[in-house]
Amino acid sequence: MPSQRDHGSILFKTKLITGHNGHTHPLIWLLAFICTIIAIGVIVAGIIVFVGYFIIHPRVPTISVANAHLDIFKNDYAGLLQTQITIVVVAQNGNAKAHATFSHIRFNVSYQNHDLAVLVSDRFEVPKNSSKYLKYVVQAASIPLNPDQMGDVDYSWKRDIVGFDLQGNARTQWRVGPLGSLKFWCNLECTLKFHPWNGSYIPSKSCTSKSK
Ligand SMILES: *[C@@H]1O[C@H](CO)[C@@H](O)[C@H](O)[C@H]1NC(C)=O
Ligand SMILES: *[C@@H]1O[C@H](CO)[C@@H](O)[C@H](O)[C@H]1NC(C)=O
Ligand SMILES: *[C@@H]1O[C@H](CO)[C@@H](O)[C@H](O)[C@H]1NC(C)=O
Repeated sequence: MPSQRDHGSILFKTKLITGHNGHTHPLIWLLAFICTIIAIGVIVAGIIVFVGYFIIHPRVPTISVANAHLDIFKNDYAGLLQTQITIVVVAQNGNAKAHATFSHIRFNVSYQNHDLAVLVSDRFEVPKNSSKYLKYVVQAASIPLNPDQMGDVDYSWKRDIVGFDLQGNARTQWRVGPLGSLKFWCNLECTLKFHPWNGSYIPSKSCTSKSK
């Protein structure tokens, strides 16, 4: 003969499975159904993002210095430097399936801590697997140099190397298929180096943006 306790636990189990009136409430079925659908949806979405990432292979668009030229570089005995640089910047979108938008472009050009110019651009689009070139001519008529800086200019001529600092940011945004749109800041910080005797640019790998 079963004890009172066993009888009670059997009763409890029966109640749990069948509910009050002996049937599972339709609302419970509906909730279970919705939970299952949501769980499947989350798993499928995860798989799509994971596989999509490798199929689409998103590449962060970059900004880099494509070319440059030191057009003018001369100083007088009073220590005033006159200079002109042509800088060609390229915005590259290596994505085969997505346009990229570049905005908030702002780069400072300086020589020995003297600001020469701020390079800016309106927002623009770069089609898929394509690039856009921006040309800037930076002119500075009379930068006052102190005796140390005048010495640096002389030394630049002797070594046939002179450096200008380029520093700034651009905002880039592109759509990655169904994954939505990605936004990054491109950060560019490098030294533009030239041979002052013939003005030719010395390319540098660091003159390509790093994203953050
Ligand atoms: C991207 O462009 C380069 C040349 O500009 C071409 O060789 C390459 O096949 C293109 N890739 C795609 C996926 O369109
Ligand atoms: C660029 O120069 C401006 C002033 O000329 C300054 O306000 C700004 O902070 C500089 N930006 C960078 C990134 O150095
Ligand atoms: C400029 O001068 C440098 C150093 O003498 C040389 O390596 C470079 O080829 C020259 N560039 C041109 C375009 O003549």
